[in-house]
Amino acid sequence: MRPNILSFLSVSAFLLAVFSSFISFASSAKLQALPLPSYVGKGCSPNDPKLNECVVRTGAPAIKKIAQGDPKYRIPKLDPLTIPQIKIRQGTRQVGLSLELNNLQMYGLKDVDFRKARLDLNKNHCEWDFFLKTMTMIGKYNVSGQVLVLPITGEGDANVTVTGVTFTFIYNYTLEKRANGLEYVKVTDYKMPFQVTDMKIKLDNLFNGDRLLGGNMNQFLNENWQEIMKELGPAMGDALGEIFKQTLTSMADLVPFKNIFPKD
Ligand SMILES: *[C@@H]1O[C@H](CO)[C@@H](O)[C@H](O)[C@H]1NC(C)=O
Ligand SMILES: *[C@@H]1O[C@H](CO)[C@@H](O)[C@H](O)[C@H]1NC(C)=O
Ligand SMILES: *[C@@H]1O[C@H](CO)[C@@H](O)[C@H](O)[C@H]1NC(C)=O
Repeated sequence: MRPNILSFLSVSAFLLAVFSSFISFASSAKLQALPLPSYVGKGCSPNDPKLNECVVRTGAPAIKKIAQGDPKYRIPKLDPLTIPQIKIRQGTRQVGLSLELNNLQMYGLKDVDFRKARLDLNKNHCEWDFFLKTMTMIGKYNVSGQVLVLPITGEGDANVTVTGVTFTFIYNYTLEKRANGLEYVKVTDYKMPFQVTDMKIKLDNLFNGDRLLGGNMNQFLNENWQEIMKELGPAMGDALGEIFKQTLTSMADLVPFKNIFPKD
């Protein structure tokens, strides 16, 4: 088992995620002007010299509630979050690994810690820092390929658990004036850098349930978790980024800007 075996392999990850949970909430009403949800409170004044601190203070406790879902604001339950598929391909058909993770349930978002915010309302730019102790993804996998001259095959249950998770939701927006004369936030682009300090992966039933081969392969994958994370990390970041964008969009579609940042 050489830890560097996978390191030369080129990496590319595909996230074919259709966040079906949001589709049923697809917006139609364009002219609503709701207040912020009661669990968020009054919102922060755009003139507050400590605007960033205010956003974290009011936002942090609201995240737990939002993760439970809120039909009034068209937000589905976010914990667990369903990720329909993540495909990981490393290397070539001869030397490499092709791993499909299907119907993943991602647990943990309700415990996310909203740590810092950096808002620039003049530049329409925001950055939100989050930390999560543990995030677990449970689902099905199938794998094929060749690692260490050993053909690898299998399908079954997968558990991918990451710890020490930090991610930042970075986005730009415009203010869109609607027919009711009010302005609404529209996210124009975003990114979600995503890092972890450790990962544990467990694939059950590798090699048709051969315990020795399966155990060795799981050990190999765990020893090389950083290589796996090179692909899984961006895919998870993309999934989370999409969810944050959708959640923000759902809410910002109903709550005009002046209700999010009420002038005092
Ligand atoms: C996983 O299974 C599906 C359906 O049987 C198959 O099309 C796909 O190629 C498999 N993927 C891997 C990585 O083995
Ligand atoms: C998944 O793996 C983690 C870490 O190894 C473990 O703590 C957790 O209990 C597992 N969850 C399930 C549902 O197997
Ligand atoms: C937001 O806008 C800035 C300035 O135009 C740009 O540098 C940045 O790449 C944009 N996107 C994100 C996600 O910050």
